[in-house]
Parts: sequence; C-alpha cells; structure tokens
Amino acid sequence: MIPKLEGTLIFGGDYNPEQWPESVWHEDMRLMRQAGVNLVSVGIFSWARIQPNADTFDFAWLDTVMALLSETGIRACLATATASPPAWLIRKDPSVLPLNREGRTLYPGSRQHYSPCSGAYRKAATRLVEAIAERYAHHPALAAWHVNNEYACHMTECHGEETTNAFRLWLKERYGNLDALNFAWGTQFWSQVYSDWEEIYTPREAPYFTNPTQQLDYRRFMSDAFLELFLMEKAILRRITPDTPVTTNLLGLVPQLDYNQWAKEVDFVAWDNYPDPVDIEAGCLKHAIGNDLQRSLGDGAPYVLMEQATSAVNWRDVNMPKPPGLMRLWSYQTLARGGDGIMYFQWRASVAGTEKYHSAMVPHVGAERSRVYREVADLGNELTRLKPIAGSRVCAQAAILFDWDNWWSLSIDSRPAQLDYPAAVEDVHEWFYQQNIAVDIVAPTSDLTRYSVVVAPHLYMLDDAVAGNLTAFVEQGGALLVTPFSAIVDRYDHVQPGGYGAKLKEVLGLWVEEWCPYPEGRGNAMQIEEENLSFACHSWAEVVHTTTAIPLARFADDYFAGSAALTVNHLGAGCAYYLATIPERAGLDVVLRKVVTEAAGLRPLLLVPQGVEVSLREGPRATFLFLLNHTLESVHIDLKNYHGRDLLSDRVVAGGMNLDPWQVAIIQLAPAPSDGQNPE
Ligand code: GLA
Repeated sequence: MIPKLEGTLIFGGDYNPEQWPESVWHEDMRLMRQAGVNLVSVGIFSWARIQPNADTFDFAWLDTVMALLSETGIRACLATATASPPAWLIRKDPSVLPLNREGRTLYPGSRQHYSPCSGAYRKAATRLVEAIAERYAHHPALAAWHVNNEYACHMTECHGEETTNAFRLWLKERYGNLDALNFAWGTQFWSQVYSDWEEIYTPREAPYFTNPTQQLDYRRFMSDAFLELFLMEKAILRRITPDTPVTTNLLGLVPQLDYNQWAKEVDFVAWDNYPDPVDIEAGCLKHAIGNDLQRSLGDGAPYVLMEQATSAVNWRDVNMPKPPGLMRLWSYQTLARGGDGIMYFQWRASVAGTEKYHSAMVPHVGAERSRVYREVADLGNELTRLKPIAGSRVCAQAAILFDWDNWWSLSIDSRPAQLDYPAAVEDVHEWFYQQNIAVDIVAPTSDLTRYSVVVAPHLYMLDDAVAGNLTAFVEQGGALLVTPFSAIVDRYDHVQPGGYGAKLKEVLGLWVEEWCPYPEGRGNAMQIEEENLSFACHSWAEVVHTTTAIPLARFADDYFAGSAALTVNHLGAGCAYYLATIPERAGLDVVLRKVVTEAAGLRPLLLVPQGVEVSLREGPRATFLFLLNHTLESVHIDLKNYHGRDLLSDRVVAGGMNLDPWQVAIIQLAPAPSDGQNPE
C-alpha cells in the first residue's frame, strides 16, 4: 500500500527544515509547489530538535511545518527521527553506543551511533515514536511513516554486552539446547565446545578465523536485531495510526541486512540509490539491477526511489556532478522498471555539517539560478502527465535467485576462493538487461511457477526446501541454469559428503568430484565443439561426473581436460543446465542464450540499437512501452506492431520513431483492434 496521492506518481525528497529559519520554510513551499513536489520525508534527523532534553518535547516548529505542507497540498512521509540519538541521551546512558569487533566504542558526533540491542536506546526511541505518532496521527499532511533511516548503513555490527546477551538469547531460541548448537557450529573442531550459553560470544577479533557458522549466525542475528527494532517502531505506529503505511529506506544489493526478510515487513518498498556518474554505463547497470531487486522484493508492486542525488554526492573521494539530462534519464529508469516514485536527498542544500557539499533539489546558488533545480522542476512537472502509469507493473518471466544467507556464507573467510556472488548475479542480470528481457531477482524459496526460466548463480548454500523448489520448477517445464559451487552446504554451513551438489544431483543429472579455483592469470577454456566455439574461463573450474546430463561443452586444459564444462539434463517437462566454470563474458552470453532464448523461448521486447532500454508496464486499463536511449547518439527505433500515444511528447507514434541522446518515450499502447476499440 504505497501512499495514494490522488493516483499520481510520487515526487519529492528529504526535507530537513530544522536546519533553516522559519522564513525559509515559506520559500520552500513556493518552490516545492513550483517543482511539482507532492511528498517529502520530514525530520529524519530531528530527534534533538523534537526532544531537546529527556523531559521536553518541542513540536511547535514541526506543527508549523506540517501545517505549511498541508496548506501547500504536499503530504509528509513523516520520520520517526530515531536514526541519530541526541547528545543528551548518550550522556545520560552511554550504553546506547555500539562496540565494534575490536571492542572499541563508536562515539557520537556522526550518526547511527546506537546499538540495536541497547535497552536504553529502545526505551528512548519508543517514547519518541509514541509522542510523534500521537501528535500527528490525524494530521491531514500525514501520508506515510518513514521509520529510522537506512538501517545498518554505517553501523553494521555491535559486540557490546547487551548485544552479546541478545545473541545468546537468539541462539537459544534457534537451537533450543547446547548440543544442537555444538552440532550446528561443528565445535568439536579446534576444541570450541560450549557447555554454557554464557561461554558464547559474538565473533569478536580473534587470533585467527572464527568459527564459520558462528560468523554466519551472527550476521543472521544482526539482520534480525535491526529488523526487530524496525518492528518495534512499526508496532507503535500501527497501534496509533492503523491505516497509515509504514516503510523504511532500503539500500540496493548490500550485504548488511537480509532484505528478503525485511521486504515482508514494510507496507511498501522504498530504497535509496547513488550510482556514480563517473562511469555512466556502470551507473546505469547498477541502477537497473537495484530497481529490479526492489520491484521483486515487493513482489512486483510499485515501489519508491526514496533517495537519489540530483547531481553530486559528497562521500566519494571525487564527487562528479550528474551532467544535464542524466538525473532525468535515471529517474525514468526507475519508472521503466516498475517504480512509482522519484525522490531525492535532499530538498535544500545544507550550509553546515557533513553533507553541505551534497547536491540537493535547491542548490546553494538558489533555485532560479540553478540548472539542477530547473531539471528537478521540469521533471516534477513532467511526471504529472504520467498519472496513467501509476500502479501498473512490470511482469517478468525470468528470475535470478538471490539469497542473503548464501551471500554471507560465500563471503566468510576460509573458502576455496572468494567467489564474488553479487558480481555473478550482476553479470547474469546485465545479459537480461542488454537483451531487454524483464527479469526478477527473487529468493530461492519464492514461488517459481510464474517463471519460465530461473538462473541460480553460485547457490552454495542450499537446503531440501530449495532443492525441492528447483526440482519442481524443472519438472513442471521450467528451464533452470545453475552455476558452479552450488549445493555444497546446508544452512549450518556443513558440507554434504559423497559428491558435491548432492541435493541437485537428480535435477542436474551429475555430481562434482572436486573444484579448481584459479588465481589471476591462470585459467582454463570451455569448448562447445558442435558450434566450434571456445571461451576462456577464469577463477574457477570443476571436475564433473554426469549421470543423466548431456555435456554441451568441455574443458580444454588441465588434468580434467575433456570433462564436462556445461551440461543439460532433461527432467519431467523441463531442463536443467549446469555451468561448471566462470567463462569470459562472451561465453556466459552463449550459455544464457541457450537457456533463456532457445530452451525457455524468451525474446527481447523489441530489437533496438545497443544502449536502448525497453520495458513494458501493464496496468488494468492500459499497457505502457518505455524506451530509454542511454547512448549519446540519436537512434531510430523500429516499433514493429507497437503503436500508441507517447505520454511525454503527447504524439501518436507508429511504425518507428527517433530518440535523441538520453531521451525517453513512454508509449501508452493502443488496445489491439480485436478488443473492439479503435487503435489511435
Ligand atoms: C543516505 C542517507 C541520507 C544522506 C544521503 C547522502 O542515503 O539516507 O541521509 O546521508 O545518504 O548521499
């Protein structure tokens, strides 16, 4: 339930009026109206202003801000303001502060200086959230709640006493007794056996690698601890404002939190993204995969890009601005991939503090003199023409599996090699993106029956439920591609002996005897004899034994030359491919073509010049074709049978059309003549 703002798309940004005198707020309202702003995230870091000391709440300023917003016709995604605890709270109760793995305290002076397990923090946050929620429960400006801010963005771990106790409790709940924990953690190894819960610590700095299952459980625990904190606030907000949607801003493909769990708890998905304009092509890919992830997290429902930069950020070593037109193009990319809201950090550029050199909707130079503000206002006004797309959805028939547990376990030390899991996912996603074939990014336990093809990169950690899900998917006619180092361990990170990949043995029709990771400069080659093709393979190769699978490619080098590098196994109505190596880009392209195009029959939406992004959003009353020219050349697009009205230029298009560099078209497709209606 995304906030419904009269069926329009959401447009706005973080609004921090506490940094400005009241006179500026009036100017803000005028400019916001002029820029087409309809939603602002208010007061994310205003705890100290709302509650200047333990005994005082000061809502007068926020009352004025909320009233001004309401009069201007702008709604608030009102923050619970818990992201940066005030100095008085730390002084009163220093136990709020987190301790890092080296045992050092993280002090105030920045933000996010709280431990998610601190009782004092939770108590103070509860009081604050209750006070804010009660104050504004019935305020006409209130549209949604913005809880905390970017959980675990900076502060990812805590090893203090309360956290250690909470970890012990979490383990008790998970394992029930110490025998189960000792088994799960494999504590006979290196004499790590526990005979009392009090003997267990979070994985603090140690002489050498700490127990991998302990590390893994700790990451699960930290994700849960932050989620518990979110749920604590959400419960208060639900009780006081049962009908107001609650969310928090997620990040993209980041390791800190298991967003597959988090997404179940937010009322609508919102995320922040800051691709680096230094490399526009890479930025565009990063933005595409991030958007696809957010859409998938919300099960296809429209989501909000809650923060992006209008131009430069301030936190890289070198912070380049977005050249004119790029912010608009990347904003449309969000809409093209299923988003319904474009927002920024932040409304007005600060003049003091760490982020004063971060771009904003209103830069230091002032609104009217700034090209950035002009671009923002133009976009905001343009979006009002796009009302019809609000609520429509991108429907993908392909999925890439992504699992945080798997990521955490792959990135623990003491592995055969460090396989870059997100990079493998990004490589596969890039192929789909270049092909203009819509793809979701989903948890391995999701309902896969809606897809015709599923790709599972490095699914190292795999339990019976996931194996069953994948097997059923193939039996029912799906095309599956699994890439190497998959099905090696269970959820405890225990190896399943007797041949690697045992849980997928039936569906893949093979087992793996051993693997061979390659250092930089070494590698193998994968030959597809039938097509007379050969591709270099770097980082990884495996010695595969087929049972029912048919080899499609073989290794050229090393002691296992001639053994299978790519296989296919037919099972039930579907087929499962196994890629036992990491080939160069062109090799991966061939493999994906075989699986997605040839086996599953998925085709690009349109054949367009390279660098043109095409997507389709389907709504109950209309379908929209998005065309985005990411290149610096004008391109001609052959529209084939697609025709309709371009909502941006308000022109009817049919046959073909030209798109200038970085230009966008959103064509509301005319219904097919068989619908009994006239095409345009
Ligand atoms: C994050 C935060 C914002 C701001 C921006 C700057 O997204 O949520 O408060 O710090 O980064 O890029």
